[in-house]
Amino acid sequence: MNLEEVDVLYTAEEIREKVKELGSKISADYEGEGLLVVGILKGAFVFMADLIREIDIPMELDFMSVSSYGASSETSGEVRIMKDLDFSIEGKNVLVVEDIVDTGLTLNYISKILKQRGCSSVKICCLLDKPSRRRSPVIPDYIGYTIPDQFVVGYGLDYAGHYRNYPAVCILKPSVYMND
Ligand code: IMP
Repeated sequence: MNLEEVDVLYTAEEIREKVKELGSKISADYEGEGLLVVGILKGAFVFMADLIREIDIPMELDFMSVSSYGASSETSGEVRIMKDLDFSIEGKNVLVVEDIVDTGLTLNYISKILKQRGCSSVKICCLLDKPSRRRSPVIPDYIGYTIPDQFVVGYGLDYAGHYRNYPAVCILKPSVYMND
């Protein structure tokens, strides 16, 4: 990690403990119910890989990839599905896994789409939540950390495609993006 560019917010060890806690809560809540974990690419892939290994009940997984419609998404929150789910979700308990909930526009849209497809339930699990930025009424069911309005990278989160490989969640120093 380049410490001239980032400040560590949560270390890899802290995250491991937090993910364990989330995994046992999820395992207890869905015991005997059946569970389909849906990861939102790309940001959620690191978190999801760790989280599913802390879930000790039978589960399936799938992925979706979305991108926003540019400027119009600022108001509508509409997203384009770049990769859809591979399987039907009818009658399933879906747990959407996301790296971070910011304005909530993306997850609001995804939750709506999934509910229309006839699943039994849709819940949200995010590693990070920035509630102060919310513009859509999304309340995640499982939250790792609630953070202030700062831009974070690492543990799957990127800035312009970089930093996803950092094992810690880090605050990106403003000097980095102000130079771009
Ligand atoms: P929302 O629709 O505004 O909630 O968008 C959430 C998405 O924005 C996340 O899945 C991330 O891809 C991105 N995002 C929001 N805040 C950050 C951040 O602090 N660092 C990296 N990506 C972020």
